[in-house]
Amino acid sequence: MDRSHRGTIFLEEARVDAIRAFPGEQYILRLYAPQCAVRAQPGSFVHLQCAPEIPMRRPLSIRATDPDSGWLEVLFKVVGEGLHALATRQPGDRLSVLGPIGNGFRPDPARPRAVLIGGGVGMPPLQFLASRMATAVAEGWQPIVFFGSEIPFPFRPGHSGAALHGIDHRIDACDPEMEALGIPSRLASLAGFGGCYPGYVTGLVGEWLGAMHQNDLSEVAIYACGPAPMLRAAAALARDFAVPGQLCLEEYMACGVGGCAGCAVRIATDRGPAMKRVCVDGPVFDARAVHPELFTAA
Ligand SMILES: Cc1cc2nc3c(=O)[nH]c(=O)nc-3n(C[C@H](O)[C@H](O)[C@H](O)COP(=O)(O)OP(=O)(O)OC[C@H]3O[C@@H](n4cnc5c(N)ncnc54)[C@H](O)[C@@H]3O)c2cc1C
Ligand code: FES
Repeated sequence: MDRSHRGTIFLEEARVDAIRAFPGEQYILRLYAPQCAVRAQPGSFVHLQCAPEIPMRRPLSIRATDPDSGWLEVLFKVVGEGLHALATRQPGDRLSVLGPIGNGFRPDPARPRAVLIGGGVGMPPLQFLASRMATAVAEGWQPIVFFGSEIPFPFRPGHSGAALHGIDHRIDACDPEMEALGIPSRLASLAGFGGCYPGYVTGLVGEWLGAMHQNDLSEVAIYACGPAPMLRAAAALARDFAVPGQLCLEEYMACGVGGCAGCAVRIATDRGPAMKRVCVDGPVFDARAVHPELFTAA
């Protein structure tokens, strides 16, 4: 058992405070888990017990926290038995939470123009990162958020009044939660939702980056989480526009705390390729370090 993370990951008996349902079997679950809420960082996740009769925990990214009140939120879409059971939990229920786990995003202050790209249930860690940057505007962060989904978004999209250079004014669908934080956002979908960019979210980001001046591009960094093809496209954007990128990976997990190596993936390091555990060495990795084979499994 790897003990390097002892003292940073907590086991809590969390209380379900609220669960909100959205179309497409998507849910936002709010848990009272004060130790985890205080230490969570954007990109870190919790390993959750979904129901007493299901022994294997399920990993979910943290999307928001309130350290003072002690709650954290996750957003999930039902896939199979575990998340189906989680969706039936009611306020007042107790469930075991292990977290926060993992190395999250490492925002680069030298590149304040942070481009946050989230696809589907990859949105939560970017929502968390955006809210942290919004509370640190004095540090000069200028985040912009791009989300894509092929099922209804897990929020009611708004219409942004603020134009974005390089983006057609008819593409005005936005995430109201981001706009309320003062962060510009745009949405993409092939499902025909009004005001959305009719393509993949990375196509939209490509149009926005393509309209930027070289001086501004030198201040850009990409942060992305989503399905493997989206991460592949985000890594290609970083390469094509010569900007750094950080990708939040998903991998099948058993222990979730570094002990079983079941989540190991091949990562390029200064000393050549090495197997790294997505749970505790990641889940966020440098886009250039992720081996392309990881993007072919989706
Ligand atoms: C670090 C991390 C963060 C994640 N964050 C989110 C999130 O914020 N919202 C969200 O909806 N989903 C997220 N996922 C994916 C989520 O964990 C899986 O969809 C979930 O475990 C599926 O469980 P299930 O029982 O419903 O489905 P089943 O398919 O029945 O699960 C069977 C087994 O496969 C594993 N499994 C299935 N799909 C995945 C997957 N994509 N990744 C890892 N393990 C999988 C399960 O843990 C379980 O052991 C995340 C995964 C990881 C690794
Ligand atoms: S899931 Fe066991 S080491 Fe990552």
